[in-house]
Amino acid sequence: MPPQIVDAPRMRRSVAEGNRGTQPALPPPDCGAMLAAMTDTPSVKRLAAAASAWRSAPDDAAARTRLAVLLWRRPDLADASHLPAIAAMIRDPQIDPAQFERAGWVALGPTPPDPADPQTAALWLERHDLAIALIEETQVADGVAEHLLSAVRRWLLLERKTGAFPRLAAALLRQAAINGGAWPFDAEERAALAAAPDFLAAYLPEPPGTMEGEFAAPVTRAVAAQYGRWPYPVWQRANAVTMRSLGDSLRACGPDAPILPDRPNILVAGCGTGREALSIARMAPDATVTAIELSETSLAVARERCAGQANLRLLRHDLHAVAELGQRFDYIACSGVLHHLPDPEAGWAALVDVLASGGAMQVAMYSRIARLQVAAARMRLGMLTQEPVSDDVIREARRKLIAAPLPSVTDSRDFFSTAGVHDLLFHVHEDCFDIPRIERATDALGLKLLRFQLPTPEDAKQYRELAPHDPLHRDFAAWHTYEMRHPSTFAGMYRMTLARAS
Ligand SMILES: C[S@@+](CC[C@H](N)C(=O)[O-])C[C@H]1O[C@@H](n2cnc3c(N)ncnc32)[C@H](O)[C@@H]1O
Repeated sequence: MPPQIVDAPRMRRSVAEGNRGTQPALPPPDCGAMLAAMTDTPSVKRLAAAASAWRSAPDDAAARTRLAVLLWRRPDLADASHLPAIAAMIRDPQIDPAQFERAGWVALGPTPPDPADPQTAALWLERHDLAIALIEETQVADGVAEHLLSAVRRWLLLERKTGAFPRLAAALLRQAAINGGAWPFDAEERAALAAAPDFLAAYLPEPPGTMEGEFAAPVTRAVAAQYGRWPYPVWQRANAVTMRSLGDSLRACGPDAPILPDRPNILVAGCGTGREALSIARMAPDATVTAIELSETSLAVARERCAGQANLRLLRHDLHAVAELGQRFDYIACSGVLHHLPDPEAGWAALVDVLASGGAMQVAMYSRIARLQVAAARMRLGMLTQEPVSDDVIREARRKLIAAPLPSVTDSRDFFSTAGVHDLLFHVHEDCFDIPRIERATDALGLKLLRFQLPTPEDAKQYRELAPHDPLHRDFAAWHTYEMRHPSTFAGMYRMTLARAS
């Protein structure tokens, strides 16, 4: 009986979601949620309409993007009817393949073989174009798929069968390069690797050549070194067409939201490997976007992935010294960075200093309350958290957590790469926020909250019930009450749009 790769709605929130966009998480089968999805007619209808639009116009970039985005948001709704669309889009240079990380495996669901029979599984995978493409094009972020593929990788190695399965062996090499060699393996496999030099990189891919320089502040130096060895985030391509413009998203913040000039000057502070910067540059094609980053290794990845985006400039620069760029910015994005600074409020102030009057700012930072789930995962890892971080330590941490899953962590997309696990569980420096601290900081910085983003429509509905007086989500006290009642809401991050108070 072939196993189901995924067979239930997968919408539980995971710790890393917010930082990486909105990938839903992967809880184990849950009948209540399944029932909810079956009756979740708006999503089902939206997906059906997008699939039908794609069938009528498969070359229409907007139709392709819409279907891909919907499959990303609700991979649990994918089924065999979506396979032709996924097969057509998975290698499409204009489409982000990560949108199929889960939907692809879900759609393949009823047919993949049993990891306990790795030979049959290998035969099946070797012949399956879509399965090969899913392994090659994007990080595998599905625990069941990882389990199957790890079993097959082990069999190929120990039985010396890589030559007989060339497509699969090559795809596994590529997958390890993407995920940094995140999948755990045992001593028998490690010993066998000595005799399999051509397959070694399917287990132990080459780490990036680190190129970090010196920074004066010890925290800044340590943060640059971490991202130099484990550049973040892990991604391959961004959608060429965006679902909405930057101007549209600002207009959604309310009637008093700033209106961007025709050719806005935009800053992305702490751009990492460039995914956020590229998507902003595409959402605002008439803008000039400057993205700054500490880590030269991360920037090298960003330069490669963002090549050809003429309105985006990538610079090595410490955000504390952003004023040295000698510019004012109409829009500043800073996501997942402030909590890694030695003094987050000081870094935030440096950004506010270069915000044009009438400009807007989007920031995202860790919630101290939601991060308690990460603390629980770290407790589970015990002494491992005291060791110097290495890929072996990360694989061992993953092995422990796979054996005793903590869904908020083990279902998150970050759990499936070494760089993601480092960022999620082993960061060298975190100084998390809570809502009162954000309120104090915005007051001190002369900022007003334009919109506080709730992660899901369900959260927004619950917030409306709690705070009907606050349709734009601007009431810090209500937002704080909401988080106290729903402590994992900001498991990704707090995310908000702000403007100068006057
Ligand atoms: C968690 S990553 C977020 C990357 C990106 N903003 C995103 O959301 O995809 C944090 C990034 O901030 C960068 N960073 C940290 N401190 C910085 C500083 N003082 N100046 C510039 N970049 C910094 C790190 O090197 C790292 O690449």
